[in-house]
Amino acid sequence: MSGKPIIILGIESSCDETSASVTRNTNVLANLIASQKIHELYGGVVPELASRAHQKNIVPVVEEALKQAGIKKEEIDVIAFTRGPGLIGSLLVGSSFAKAMSLALNIPLIEVNHMQAHVLAHFIRKEDVRGHGENPKFPFLCLTVSGGHTQIVLAKDYLDMEVIGETVDDAAGEAFDKAAKILGLPYPGGPLIDQYAQEGNPNAFKFPEPKAEGLNFSFSGLKTAVLYFIRDKEKENKNFIQENMNDVCASIQHTIIKILLDKLIAASKQTKIKEIAIAGGVSANSGLRNALTETGKQLSWNTYIPPFEYCTDNAAMIAIAGYFKYLKGEFAEQSVAASARYTL
Ligand code: KG4
Ligand code: ZN
Repeated sequence: MSGKPIIILGIESSCDETSASVTRNTNVLANLIASQKIHELYGGVVPELASRAHQKNIVPVVEEALKQAGIKKEEIDVIAFTRGPGLIGSLLVGSSFAKAMSLALNIPLIEVNHMQAHVLAHFIRKEDVRGHGENPKFPFLCLTVSGGHTQIVLAKDYLDMEVIGETVDDAAGEAFDKAAKILGLPYPGGPLIDQYAQEGNPNAFKFPEPKAEGLNFSFSGLKTAVLYFIRDKEKENKNFIQENMNDVCASIQHTIIKILLDKLIAASKQTKIKEIAIAGGVSANSGLRNALTETGKQLSWNTYIPPFEYCTDNAAMIAIAGYFKYLKGEFAEQSVAASARYTL
């Protein structure tokens, strides 16, 4: 490879965010995210509506990203897109667009695993912004917590990762969103629980911590416990939720964080690795960010927390993953198929 910087167009469309990013090597020049509001009406992502919204958004989002980056189409060296995992209809929109554009511009194509990209978000840089901390050093552990996944990943190198623990049922983000729904909050409820929790007492109510084998997680029992808890409390006082929203949210959040951190501590002990990162939508949670920092201090970990804009789904992480694959010459064929269950 020559020393010339590489301009990458990244495209992300795995769930309900249509995102395009332009990067120069690992520096982000633009990162546009169109969030789909339509799903709020239904209390969760409706796959068919997500695909249609991606179709509507993708061209303007890509054009705006190029405009903000000050990059012409002809200057793009390579297109990286999310191959999976995710909703198949949503993935098809982004992957078809990326393939067509790579053909039209006669430039290579790179397929990216969305979960690997969440971990690699730690290597995103912004030329004009200071304050991005150090990169994690290999090997490191990354707790990737999103709406669809909860994994402890052993990152041995940029493109060499192993899942050493994962959820056996719901993801951590799902636990937040489902608990929020029970409390009558709109989708996605995770950020709202985070907000209310900041004013509440995390020890006000006790919820069970479902157990799973080894480094795995389980969250579905928590959702059921919250459902029965609220049902019983509302029998005594129909205003229970309104009167206790902060404390209930703080207690639920505290439980989810404890489940996550207990396993992360076990993973660190087992692997003897003290470079510890978090990634994915739930890593935007202020309670989790604080708890990781505190635990890190106690256990002499080096901890790594992505900036907020790179926690939830974004195309900058896809472009950065694309960059590392470019360096290794890992290009995709036009025949590459989107994969809903693409594993790490
Ligand atoms: O990574 P992401 O954007 O999409 C997936 O790949 O799933 O994660 C979305 C998830 C949702 O469940 C959302 O509620 C959760 O991340 N989330 C949060 C917060 N911000 C986003 N959960 C708790 N606290 C937050 N601040
Ligand atoms: Zn994600």
